[in-house]
Amino acid sequence: MGHFPLGRVESPVKGSSDDQPPATRWRFHPQKLLFLGVLTPLLLLVACDPDALQSTFGADGPVAEKQLLLFNVLLWAMVGTFVLVEGALLYSLIRFRRRPGDPLPAQTHGHTGLEIAWTIIPTILILILGVWSVVTLFELEPPPASANTLEVTVTGHQWWWEFEYQDADGSGRFINTANELVVPVGKPVNLLLNSDDVIHSFWVPRLAGKVDVVPTRNNRMWFQGDKIGTFYGQCAEFCGIAHALMKFRVQVLSEADYLAWVDSYGQPPGTSEPLSPKAKQGQQIFMSTGACLACHTIEGVPGAVGTIGPNLTGLGSRQTLASGILDLNRENLRLWLNNPNDVKPGNRMAERAPIYQSNSDGSISLSAQEVSALIEYLMSLK
Ligand code: CUA
Repeated sequence: MGHFPLGRVESPVKGSSDDQPPATRWRFHPQKLLFLGVLTPLLLLVACDPDALQSTFGADGPVAEKQLLLFNVLLWAMVGTFVLVEGALLYSLIRFRRRPGDPLPAQTHGHTGLEIAWTIIPTILILILGVWSVVTLFELEPPPASANTLEVTVTGHQWWWEFEYQDADGSGRFINTANELVVPVGKPVNLLLNSDDVIHSFWVPRLAGKVDVVPTRNNRMWFQGDKIGTFYGQCAEFCGIAHALMKFRVQVLSEADYLAWVDSYGQPPGTSEPLSPKAKQGQQIFMSTGACLACHTIEGVPGAVGTIGPNLTGLGSRQTLASGILDLNRENLRLWLNNPNDVKPGNRMAERAPIYQSNSDGSISLSAQEVSALIEYLMSLK
């Protein structure tokens, strides 16, 4: 690096004389610098769209709103201070610059009035912002004191999210689901966060700031969805090879839709409509040795009580697959089942399930027809 030319590069061609200009020459281009200086902030500003799916500049609940307000006040107070201070500095530099022929100006040392002013004003400003930050922090710490909160335990796994409700509807209904947190609109949701393996971070930008999910530690946070809709979340702490693919969603439903979702949870497959012969074949494959049952639970199916992988109860009614990476449909389910490593490199299913151990490329050791039957069964889980 010591030889990196900072100014002018001589021609690499040996023997070039003075009348031949050097072949390469580094030149300072103010236009290029200006272009970069304008383009870079513009590109960065694109990320500030408040309507983007995962934007901290858009808030849809009281927690995110308070955090956004604090952020905005801090930001603009700092922008204002910066402009005032730098403006005064630039003005003084230009207005009082030394011109040719100027005599040596009067020599001064300090100005008591000014020094008191620029000590007291920032102190007051920082005190106001600091106190407000701390107050907001404490305000958002405990969930609102109300018996009407929904308690959900969130467990981070490499690389998916587990959501467990001990009492989903006030009558003690237990629910365990994955990657899609379903909550009623306008109700505070109190989360207990822990991890099964490494540090993750739970983040749904439009609903609340992130909180780390740390093994052996129970962290808490709460949020409230004030708008019906789907909100996008993402693990925000590097947690291994598939970290970027550890997404999830929060579905905020009307009270009635939420209760209907709770009600439908855990009915044995075939309850609402009987399983087709193909789905029955799929169920047999699911339950066979070395296949799915060792790691996955399906409520109402005796024997399917594995807890290593996501709970698949109600899978067919979810929006996504593989921790929010793919939309849930038959095609994507086939893609995932055929070779999960193609979708999410490093995933534990391909690593551990015996049906992925016999083929060297990590693909499933089932026929296409058998995979179709499995898909039929999994999609029938509603
Ligand atoms: Cu989990 Cu990153």
